[in-house]
Amino acid sequence: MSRSVRLVPTVTACALALVLTACGGTGGVPGTAGSAGVADPYFPKAGNGGYDVTHYALTLAYATDTHHLTGTAEITARATHNLSAFDLDLKGMKVDALAVDGKSASWTRSGQELAVHPRSTVRQGKTFRTTVRYSGTPETITDPDGSDEGWVRTADGALALGEPTGSMAWFPGNDHPSDKATYDITITVPKGLQAVSNGELSTERTTDAGRTTTYTWRTAHPMATYLATVAIGHYDITRTTTKNGLPVYVAVDPEEAAASRRVLAKIPEIMEWEEYNFGPYPFDSAGAIVDRRGDAGYALETQTRPFFPGAPDTATLVHELAHQWYGDSVTPKTWRDMWLNEGFATYAEWLWSEDHDGDTAQQTFDALYKGTYFDDQSDDEAIWAFPPARPTSAAHISDSPVYERGAMVLHKIRETVGDARFYDILQGWAAAHRYGNANTADFTAYVEKMAPGKDFTGIWKAWLYGNGKPARP
Ligand code: TRP
Ligand code: ZN
Repeated sequence: MSRSVRLVPTVTACALALVLTACGGTGGVPGTAGSAGVADPYFPKAGNGGYDVTHYALTLAYATDTHHLTGTAEITARATHNLSAFDLDLKGMKVDALAVDGKSASWTRSGQELAVHPRSTVRQGKTFRTTVRYSGTPETITDPDGSDEGWVRTADGALALGEPTGSMAWFPGNDHPSDKATYDITITVPKGLQAVSNGELSTERTTDAGRTTTYTWRTAHPMATYLATVAIGHYDITRTTTKNGLPVYVAVDPEEAAASRRVLAKIPEIMEWEEYNFGPYPFDSAGAIVDRRGDAGYALETQTRPFFPGAPDTATLVHELAHQWYGDSVTPKTWRDMWLNEGFATYAEWLWSEDHDGDTAQQTFDALYKGTYFDDQSDDEAIWAFPPARPTSAAHISDSPVYERGAMVLHKIRETVGDARFYDILQGWAAAHRYGNANTADFTAYVEKMAPGKDFTGIWKAWLYGNGKPARP
């Protein structure tokens, strides 16, 4: 009797809540469902509302012959309101079992949304653990700009690339840059193959009576989902350290070893130059993953260990390593803020050239402004297609206005404040939002704070937000 009496208010509240949305199960407080996206202006379904992930523990096994992936994802998160249900992002794969805090939970799926219905409401502020067991053949996802990401098969294995929405192909999560978390990634692969991931390798052991090898990688600093990776295949592994004692772990497909040896040997020198210019390196190790040229269509700044399809040139290496500060440590709040990644990483290339007997940043800026930078006239014109802080659509977030014109914005700031203050801004920006998220408004406010008395209105208006080619002042 007392039990049913006690339940009455809850049931009533649930009945009312049902009118609006889902409600918690028996004995729970009323709650509402977390949203199926975080209102990203370019990817509205990416990410999910109602919780913040703090840690992903992924245990994966991949069979290179059948392309079959088995996974268990343990997701530790904090509820940001009373949650009757919440979504994870997962594209493809089969969900085999799901539990919240050890109790099995039901789920429904619709497109990339995996809706989890815990038995009772997860209370606001509570840290809870969702365990998803899943399996299947992970998908390659085609981006709005036509490039491949997600799970990509390579000549001798596979590779996970996540920008902007590819992580949902290989693990369930809150697939949006605004929700960063730490990771433990354990991956079992057939004997003779390696599995390389982000962070530091904590263990490597023989499993299944010698038939497989299991690698455990640890990412102790927050990482956005799009920066998580695993690369499976044959790799030559080189371990070195920089002068500051930072471990460098480089994995190169043997076919690319000869072509990439000289450039990859520059990693310590580039890291030292970047630390001098951008401030202390934010992570506990560095490195690179080099697969074959045809394995992917682009390089990616996967955290601590950027990925390259084939031997990179020095500029690309400088670019992806610069992203560790700008993109990986300071991460955009939404995909609209991409220029904060690409403009900075591109400007890093200009600065490297300037400091190493190449063109000065001013010369690069002038060539772009004059339209003599690219071989092709139409590429020179394309940089004026839209303002860096306002890409026209999801298909254009990696176009040249985000990269080259984004770098031009930084050059205009440098012109306005002078070199000493400009480098203070580069370092200060990385320090102010270390391990966090920031958007364009945060950046313009930061620059204004760092240069009192200077007027940036014209730069923001014409270079950052304005349509068309700005007039030369
Ligand atoms: N960020 C990558 C670079 O630094 C390029 C890239 C790959 C990209 N995939 C993307 C950019 C998707 C935007 C969206 O070169
Ligand atoms: Zn980039």
